[in-house]
Amino acid sequence: MSAVSSRRRHIALAGLVSGGLVLAGCAKSASTGASPTSGSTATSSASSTGAAQQVETPTATPPAAGGGASATAGPAAAAAGCTNTTYGAPKLDLKTTTVGFSQSEAESNPFRATETASITAEAKRLGIKLITRNANADVSRQNSDIQAMIAQGAKVLIVAPENSDGLAPSLAAAKAQKIPVLTIDRTVQGKACSDFIGFIGSNFLGQAVIAADDMGTALGGKGKVAILQGTPGNNVAADRTSGFVNQIKAKYPGISIVASQTGNFDQATGQKVTAQILQSNPDLAGVYAENDGMALGALQAIRAAGKRGGKDIKVVGIDGIRQAVQNVADGTMVSTIETNPRFGPLAFSTLAAFYTPAGAPTKVIIKDGHFTAANAKQALTNGSVY
Ligand code: AHR
Repeated sequence: MSAVSSRRRHIALAGLVSGGLVLAGCAKSASTGASPTSGSTATSSASSTGAAQQVETPTATPPAAGGGASATAGPAAAAAGCTNTTYGAPKLDLKTTTVGFSQSEAESNPFRATETASITAEAKRLGIKLITRNANADVSRQNSDIQAMIAQGAKVLIVAPENSDGLAPSLAAAKAQKIPVLTIDRTVQGKACSDFIGFIGSNFLGQAVIAADDMGTALGGKGKVAILQGTPGNNVAADRTSGFVNQIKAKYPGISIVASQTGNFDQATGQKVTAQILQSNPDLAGVYAENDGMALGALQAIRAAGKRGGKDIKVVGIDGIRQAVQNVADGTMVSTIETNPRFGPLAFSTLAAFYTPAGAPTKVIIKDGHFTAANAKQALTNGSVY
Protein backbone atom coordinates (compact mmCIF):
# COMPACT_ATOMS: atom_id res chain seq x y z
CA MET A 1 0.00 0.00 0.00
CA SER A 2 1.47 3.37 -0.99
CA ALA A 3 1.83 6.24 1.48
CA VAL A 4 -1.01 8.05 -0.26
CA SER A 5 -3.33 5.08 -0.22
CA SER A 6 -2.42 4.29 3.36
CA ARG A 7 -3.24 7.87 4.32
CA ARG A 8 -6.56 7.69 2.49
CA ARG A 9 -7.40 4.57 4.43
CA HIS A 10 -6.70 6.44 7.66
CA ILE A 11 -8.95 9.28 6.50
CA ALA A 12 -11.73 6.85 5.67
CA LEU A 13 -11.49 5.09 8.99
CA ALA A 14 -11.27 8.33 10.92
CA GLY A 15 -14.83 8.94 9.78
CA LEU A 16 -16.12 5.85 11.51
CA VAL A 17 -18.20 6.33 14.59
CA SER A 18 -17.22 3.82 17.22
CA GLY A 19 -20.26 2.29 18.81
CA GLY A 20 -21.84 -1.01 19.58
CA LEU A 21 -19.32 -3.68 18.84
CA VAL A 22 -17.50 -1.87 16.12
CA LEU A 23 -13.97 -0.86 16.88
CA ALA A 24 -12.54 2.16 15.10
CA GLY A 25 -8.93 2.25 14.09
CA CYS A 26 -6.52 1.97 11.22
CA ALA A 27 -7.23 -1.66 10.53
CA LYS A 28 -5.36 -3.59 7.92
CA SER A 29 -7.59 -4.98 5.21
CA ALA A 30 -8.45 -8.60 5.78
CA SER A 31 -8.72 -9.17 2.05
CA THR A 32 -5.86 -9.46 -0.33
CA GLY A 33 -4.84 -6.34 -2.25
CA ALA A 34 -5.54 -2.78 -1.24
CA SER A 35 -8.96 -1.77 -0.08
CA PRO A 36 -10.66 0.53 -2.58
CA THR A 37 -11.39 2.82 0.33
CA SER A 38 -7.66 3.08 0.57
CA GLY A 39 -7.01 4.66 -2.77
CA SER A 40 -6.99 4.23 -6.49
CA THR A 41 -4.73 1.31 -7.09
CA ALA A 42 -5.00 -1.13 -9.93
CA THR A 43 -5.21 -4.02 -7.47
CA SER A 44 -8.02 -2.53 -5.44
CA SER A 45 -10.50 -4.77 -3.72
CA ALA A 46 -12.87 -4.12 -6.55
CA SER A 47 -11.33 -7.44 -7.44
CA SER A 48 -10.26 -8.79 -4.07
CA THR A 49 -13.55 -8.41 -2.22
CA GLY A 50 -15.66 -9.54 -5.16
CA ALA A 51 -19.35 -9.03 -4.76
CA ALA A 52 -19.92 -10.00 -1.14
CA GLN A 53 -20.05 -7.45 1.64
CA GLN A 54 -17.02 -7.46 3.91
CA VAL A 55 -16.85 -5.91 7.36
CA GLU A 56 -14.53 -2.90 7.53
CA THR A 57 -13.56 -3.07 11.19
CA PRO A 58 -13.36 -5.90 13.72
CA THR A 59 -16.70 -6.76 15.17
CA ALA A 60 -18.37 -9.68 16.84
CA THR A 61 -18.67 -12.52 14.37
CA PRO A 62 -22.30 -13.42 13.86
CA PRO A 63 -22.71 -17.18 13.56
CA ALA A 64 -23.93 -18.58 10.28
CA ALA A 65 -27.70 -18.37 10.00
CA GLY A 66 -29.31 -21.80 9.65
CA GLY A 67 -25.85 -23.31 9.80
CA GLY A 68 -24.75 -21.95 6.49
CA ALA A 69 -24.94 -18.19 6.01
CA SER A 70 -21.83 -16.84 4.36
CA ALA A 71 -21.11 -14.20 6.99
CA THR A 72 -18.01 -12.20 6.24
CA ALA A 73 -17.56 -10.53 9.61
CA GLY A 74 -14.14 -9.89 11.05
CA PRO A 75 -12.54 -11.33 14.18
CA ALA A 76 -14.62 -11.70 17.31
CA ALA A 77 -14.65 -8.78 19.74
CA ALA A 78 -14.88 -9.23 23.47
CA ALA A 79 -17.99 -7.14 24.07
CA ALA A 80 -21.40 -8.78 24.43
CA GLY A 81 -23.85 -8.36 21.61
CA CYS A 82 -27.54 -7.58 21.49
CA THR A 83 -29.65 -10.64 22.27
CA ASN A 84 -33.37 -11.23 22.01
CA THR A 85 -33.42 -11.35 25.82
CA THR A 86 -31.84 -7.90 26.29
CA TYR A 87 -34.07 -6.56 23.51
CA GLY A 88 -37.19 -8.01 25.16
CA ALA A 89 -38.19 -10.16 22.20
CA PRO A 90 -39.21 -13.83 22.33
CA LYS A 91 -36.80 -16.56 21.21
CA LEU A 92 -37.56 -17.65 17.65
CA ASP A 93 -36.28 -20.15 15.12
CA LEU A 94 -35.76 -18.13 11.94
CA LYS A 95 -36.46 -21.21 9.84
CA THR A 96 -40.08 -21.27 11.00
CA THR A 97 -40.53 -17.49 11.23
CA THR A 98 -41.91 -15.00 8.72
CA VAL A 99 -39.40 -12.19 8.17
CA GLY A 100 -40.54 -8.88 6.63
CA PHE A 101 -38.29 -6.72 4.45
CA SER A 102 -39.22 -3.06 3.96
CA GLN A 103 -37.44 -1.51 0.97
CA SER A 104 -37.37 2.30 0.96
CA GLU A 105 -36.95 3.29 -2.68
CA ALA A 106 -37.79 2.19 -6.20
CA GLU A 107 -35.83 -0.67 -7.65
CA SER A 108 -35.16 1.29 -10.83
CA ASN A 109 -32.04 2.30 -8.84
CA PRO A 110 -29.62 -0.65 -9.23
CA PHE A 111 -28.59 -0.18 -5.58
CA ARG A 112 -32.16 -0.91 -4.48
CA ALA A 113 -32.70 -3.76 -6.96
CA THR A 114 -29.48 -5.46 -5.84
CA GLU A 115 -30.29 -4.96 -2.16
CA THR A 116 -33.76 -6.52 -2.47
CA ALA A 117 -32.39 -9.36 -4.60
CA SER A 118 -29.68 -10.09 -2.02
CA ILE A 119 -32.12 -10.20 0.91
CA THR A 120 -34.54 -12.35 -1.10
CA ALA A 121 -31.86 -14.76 -2.31
CA GLU A 122 -30.39 -15.27 1.16
CA ALA A 123 -33.84 -15.90 2.70
CA LYS A 124 -34.48 -18.47 -0.03
CA ARG A 125 -31.08 -20.08 0.47
CA LEU A 126 -31.75 -20.41 4.20
CA GLY A 127 -35.34 -21.63 3.74
CA ILE A 128 -36.77 -18.60 5.57
CA LYS A 129 -40.19 -17.25 4.62
CA LEU A 130 -39.80 -13.61 3.52
CA ILE A 131 -42.41 -11.00 2.71
CA THR A 132 -41.35 -7.71 1.11
CA ARG A 133 -42.80 -4.25 0.44
CA ASN A 134 -41.43 -1.17 -1.35
CA ALA A 135 -42.32 2.31 -0.08
CA ASN A 136 -41.16 4.11 -3.24
CA ALA A 137 -39.45 6.91 -1.33
CA ASP A 138 -42.54 7.75 0.75
CA VAL A 139 -41.97 7.71 4.52
CA SER A 140 -45.67 7.45 5.42
CA ARG A 141 -45.99 4.55 3.04
CA GLN A 142 -42.99 2.87 4.67
CA ASN A 143 -44.69 3.26 8.07
CA SER A 144 -47.82 1.59 6.69
CA ASP A 145 -45.76 -1.09 4.87
CA ILE A 146 -44.09 -2.06 8.15
CA GLN A 147 -47.41 -2.19 10.00
CA ALA A 148 -48.98 -4.18 7.16
CA MET A 149 -46.19 -6.76 7.30
CA ILE A 150 -46.70 -7.07 11.07
CA ALA A 151 -50.41 -7.67 10.39
CA GLN A 152 -49.39 -10.28 7.78
CA GLY A 153 -47.50 -12.21 10.45
CA ALA A 154 -43.91 -10.93 10.24
CA LYS A 155 -42.17 -11.66 13.56
CA VAL A 156 -38.82 -10.10 12.60
CA LEU A 157 -38.21 -7.10 10.33
CA ILE A 158 -35.33 -5.95 8.16
CA VAL A 159 -35.81 -2.28 7.28
CA ALA A 160 -33.96 -0.15 4.73
CA PRO A 161 -35.18 3.22 6.07
CA GLU A 162 -36.17 6.04 3.74
CA ASN A 163 -35.71 8.56 6.48
CA SER A 164 -33.80 8.57 9.75
CA ASP A 165 -36.49 10.46 11.69
CA GLY A 166 -39.86 9.49 10.26
CA LEU A 167 -40.25 5.81 11.13
CA ALA A 168 -41.03 6.29 14.84
CA PRO A 169 -44.71 5.21 14.48
CA SER A 170 -43.97 1.85 12.86
CA LEU A 171 -40.92 1.17 15.04
CA ALA A 172 -43.11 1.82 18.11
CA ALA A 173 -45.74 -0.57 16.72
CA ALA A 174 -43.08 -3.24 16.22
CA LYS A 175 -41.67 -2.67 19.70
CA ALA A 176 -45.12 -2.90 21.29
CA GLN A 177 -45.47 -6.35 19.74
CA LYS A 178 -41.90 -7.38 20.67
CA ILE A 179 -40.94 -7.62 17.00
CA PRO A 180 -37.22 -6.89 16.52
CA VAL A 181 -36.11 -4.60 13.69
CA LEU A 182 -32.70 -4.70 11.98
CA THR A 183 -31.83 -1.58 9.96
CA ILE A 184 -29.66 -1.70 6.86
CA ASP A 185 -28.07 0.97 4.61
CA ARG A 186 -29.46 3.98 6.56
CA THR A 187 -29.86 4.55 10.28
CA VAL A 188 -32.95 5.49 12.27
CA GLN A 189 -33.25 7.63 15.38
CA GLY A 190 -33.57 5.68 18.61
CA LYS A 191 -31.61 3.32 20.82
CA ALA A 192 -29.82 0.26 19.50
CA CYS A 193 -30.92 -3.02 21.11
CA SER A 194 -34.11 -1.33 22.26
CA ASP A 195 -35.86 0.49 19.39
CA PHE A 196 -33.98 -1.56 16.79
CA ILE A 197 -31.32 -4.28 16.95
CA GLY A 198 -28.59 -2.39 15.15
CA PHE A 199 -27.34 -1.06 11.82
CA ILE A 200 -25.38 -2.55 8.93
CA GLY A 201 -24.06 -0.18 6.28
CA SER A 202 -21.29 1.87 4.77
CA ASN A 203 -18.92 4.49 6.14
CA PHE A 204 -20.67 7.46 4.52
CA LEU A 205 -18.29 10.09 5.88
CA GLY A 206 -15.33 8.09 4.60
CA GLN A 207 -16.94 7.81 1.16
CA ALA A 208 -17.38 11.58 1.01
CA VAL A 209 -13.77 12.25 2.00
CA ILE A 210 -12.56 10.03 -0.85
CA ALA A 211 -14.96 11.79 -3.23
CA ALA A 212 -13.56 15.17 -2.16
CA ASP A 213 -9.98 13.99 -2.70
CA ASP A 214 -10.88 12.62 -6.13
CA MET A 215 -12.51 15.93 -7.06
CA GLY A 216 -9.61 17.96 -5.64
CA THR A 217 -7.09 15.93 -7.61
CA ALA A 218 -9.12 15.96 -10.84
CA LEU A 219 -9.44 19.76 -10.67
CA GLY A 220 -5.84 20.36 -9.73
CA GLY A 221 -7.09 22.01 -6.56
CA LYS A 222 -9.12 24.83 -8.12
CA GLY A 223 -12.51 25.55 -9.65
CA LYS A 224 -16.23 25.80 -8.95
CA VAL A 225 -18.02 22.70 -7.75
CA ALA A 226 -21.69 21.81 -7.23
CA ILE A 227 -23.04 19.19 -4.84
CA LEU A 228 -26.11 17.11 -5.69
CA GLN A 229 -27.30 16.03 -2.26
CA GLY A 230 -29.30 12.90 -1.48
CA THR A 231 -32.79 12.91 -0.02
CA PRO A 232 -32.94 15.16 3.04
CA GLY A 233 -33.63 13.71 6.48
CA ASN A 234 -31.31 10.74 6.50
CA ASN A 235 -27.80 10.10 7.78
CA VAL A 236 -26.46 9.07 4.36
CA ALA A 237 -27.09 12.43 2.69
CA ALA A 238 -26.02 14.32 5.83
CA ASP A 239 -22.68 12.50 6.11
CA ARG A 240 -21.98 12.55 2.37
CA THR A 241 -22.49 16.32 2.39
CA SER A 242 -20.57 17.23 5.53
CA GLY A 243 -17.71 14.82 4.78
CA PHE A 244 -17.21 16.34 1.32
CA VAL A 245 -17.58 19.98 2.39
CA ASN A 246 -15.21 19.62 5.33
CA GLN A 247 -12.53 17.87 3.30
CA ILE A 248 -12.71 20.44 0.49
CA LYS A 249 -12.46 23.29 3.01
CA ALA A 250 -9.56 21.66 4.81
CA LYS A 251 -7.47 20.56 1.83
CA TYR A 252 -8.50 22.47 -1.29
CA PRO A 253 -8.77 26.23 -0.61
CA GLY A 254 -8.85 26.91 -4.36
CA ILE A 255 -12.12 25.02 -4.79
CA SER A 256 -15.38 26.84 -4.11
CA ILE A 257 -18.67 25.05 -3.60
CA VAL A 258 -21.06 27.30 -5.53
CA ALA A 259 -24.23 25.22 -5.19
CA SER A 260 -25.48 22.44 -2.92
CA GLN A 261 -28.99 21.23 -3.67
CA THR A 262 -30.93 18.04 -3.23
CA GLY A 263 -31.44 15.74 -6.19
CA ASN A 264 -33.32 13.24 -3.97
CA PHE A 265 -31.00 10.37 -4.96
CA ASP A 266 -32.91 10.43 -8.26
CA GLN A 267 -31.55 10.61 -11.82
CA ALA A 268 -34.26 12.83 -13.32
CA THR A 269 -34.06 15.27 -10.40
CA GLY A 270 -30.26 15.23 -10.63
CA GLN A 271 -30.52 16.18 -14.29
CA LYS A 272 -33.01 18.99 -13.63
CA VAL A 273 -31.04 20.47 -10.73
CA THR A 274 -27.73 20.30 -12.63
CA ALA A 275 -29.30 22.08 -15.62
CA GLN A 276 -30.39 24.91 -13.31
CA ILE A 277 -27.00 25.10 -11.61
CA LEU A 278 -25.24 25.24 -15.00
CA GLN A 279 -27.39 28.16 -16.06
CA SER A 280 -26.24 30.27 -13.12
CA ASN A 281 -22.68 28.85 -13.17
CA PRO A 282 -21.60 28.37 -16.80
CA ASP A 283 -17.98 28.03 -15.63
CA LEU A 284 -18.78 25.10 -13.32
CA ALA A 285 -15.80 22.73 -13.17
CA GLY A 286 -17.09 19.83 -11.09
CA VAL A 287 -20.20 18.00 -9.89
CA TYR A 288 -20.17 15.78 -6.81
CA ALA A 289 -23.27 13.60 -6.86
CA GLU A 290 -24.13 11.77 -3.64
CA ASN A 291 -25.24 8.76 -5.66
CA ASP A 292 -24.56 7.48 -9.15
CA GLY A 293 -28.14 7.91 -10.32
CA MET A 294 -27.78 11.67 -9.83
CA ALA A 295 -24.32 11.56 -11.45
CA LEU A 296 -25.91 10.04 -14.57
CA GLY A 297 -28.55 12.80 -14.49
CA ALA A 298 -25.81 15.42 -14.13
CA LEU A 299 -24.02 14.02 -17.19
CA GLN A 300 -27.25 14.28 -19.21
CA ALA A 301 -27.55 17.97 -18.22
CA ILE A 302 -23.86 18.56 -18.95
CA ARG A 303 -24.25 17.10 -22.46
CA ALA A 304 -27.45 19.10 -23.03
CA ALA A 305 -25.49 22.27 -22.14
CA GLY A 306 -22.97 21.42 -24.87
CA LYS A 307 -20.23 20.42 -22.44
CA ARG A 308 -18.27 17.20 -21.99
CA GLY A 309 -18.22 15.13 -18.82
CA GLY A 310 -14.62 14.32 -17.94
CA LYS A 311 -13.19 17.12 -20.07
CA ASP A 312 -15.12 20.33 -19.30
CA ILE A 313 -16.76 19.16 -16.09
CA LYS A 314 -15.45 16.52 -13.69
CA VAL A 315 -18.11 14.27 -12.15
CA VAL A 316 -17.64 12.12 -9.04
CA GLY A 317 -20.39 9.76 -7.88
CA ILE A 318 -21.10 7.25 -5.14
CA ASP A 319 -22.49 3.67 -5.32
CA GLY A 320 -20.51 1.89 -8.04
CA ILE A 321 -23.44 1.02 -10.31
CA ARG A 322 -22.49 -0.54 -13.66
CA GLN A 323 -23.21 2.50 -15.85
CA ALA A 324 -21.18 4.79 -13.59
CA VAL A 325 -18.22 2.41 -13.53
CA GLN A 326 -18.50 2.18 -17.33
CA ASN A 327 -18.38 6.00 -17.44
CA VAL A 328 -15.26 5.97 -15.28
CA ALA A 329 -13.69 3.44 -17.67
CA ASP A 330 -14.68 5.66 -20.63
CA GLY A 331 -13.35 8.81 -18.95
CA THR A 332 -16.66 10.69 -18.67
CA MET A 333 -16.61 10.36 -14.87
CA VAL A 334 -13.63 10.73 -12.54
CA SER A 335 -14.62 8.02 -10.07
CA THR A 336 -17.38 6.39 -8.09
CA ILE A 337 -17.09 5.10 -4.55
CA GLU A 338 -18.91 1.84 -3.96
CA THR A 339 -21.86 1.37 -1.64
CA ASN A 340 -22.21 -2.40 -1.54
CA PRO A 341 -25.92 -3.29 -1.41
CA ARG A 342 -25.56 -7.06 -1.02
CA PHE A 343 -26.91 -7.15 2.53
CA GLY A 344 -28.52 -10.62 2.53
CA PRO A 345 -25.75 -12.74 4.11
CA LEU A 346 -24.77 -10.21 6.81
CA ALA A 347 -28.38 -9.30 7.62
CA PHE A 348 -29.47 -12.90 8.18
CA SER A 349 -26.31 -13.91 10.04
CA THR A 350 -26.79 -10.88 12.30
CA LEU A 351 -30.37 -11.94 12.98
CA ALA A 352 -29.21 -15.48 13.71
CA ALA A 353 -26.66 -14.10 16.18
CA PHE A 354 -29.37 -12.07 17.89
CA TYR A 355 -31.04 -15.34 18.94
CA THR A 356 -27.85 -16.79 20.48
CA PRO A 357 -26.31 -16.02 23.90
CA ALA A 358 -23.43 -14.16 22.15
CA GLY A 359 -25.82 -11.74 20.54
CA ALA A 360 -25.58 -9.53 17.47
CA PRO A 361 -23.35 -6.49 16.84
CA THR A 362 -25.27 -3.22 17.02
CA LYS A 363 -23.17 -1.54 14.35
CA VAL A 364 -21.50 -3.20 11.39
CA ILE A 365 -19.63 -0.95 8.99
CA ILE A 366 -18.86 -2.59 5.69
CA LYS A 367 -15.86 -2.11 3.45
CA ASP A 368 -16.60 -0.54 0.07
CA GLY A 369 -14.76 -0.32 -3.22
CA HIS A 370 -13.40 2.69 -5.07
CA PHE A 371 -13.64 2.67 -8.85
CA THR A 372 -11.19 4.88 -10.71
CA ALA A 373 -9.55 4.98 -14.13
CA ALA A 374 -7.01 2.51 -12.72
CA ASN A 375 -9.45 -0.32 -12.00
CA ALA A 376 -12.82 0.44 -13.65
CA LYS A 377 -12.35 -1.79 -16.71
CA GLN A 378 -11.29 -4.72 -14.56
CA ALA A 379 -14.18 -4.11 -12.15
CA LEU A 380 -16.71 -4.32 -14.97
CA THR A 381 -15.75 -7.93 -15.61
CA ASN A 382 -14.88 -9.36 -12.20
CA GLY A 383 -18.32 -9.45 -10.57
CA SER A 384 -17.86 -6.49 -8.23
CA VAL A 385 -20.11 -4.10 -10.15
CA TYR A 386 -23.91 -4.21 -9.95
O1 AHR B 1 -28.75 4.64 1.54
C1 AHR B 1 -27.96 4.31 0.47
C2 AHR B 1 -28.17 5.25 -0.69
O2 AHR B 1 -29.54 5.34 -0.97
C3 AHR B 1 -27.53 4.84 -1.99
O3 AHR B 1 -26.31 5.47 -2.21
C4 AHR B 1 -28.50 5.39 -2.98
O4 AHR B 1 -28.32 4.97 -4.29
C5 AHR B 1 -29.78 5.12 -2.33
O5 AHR B 1 -30.85 5.80 -2.82
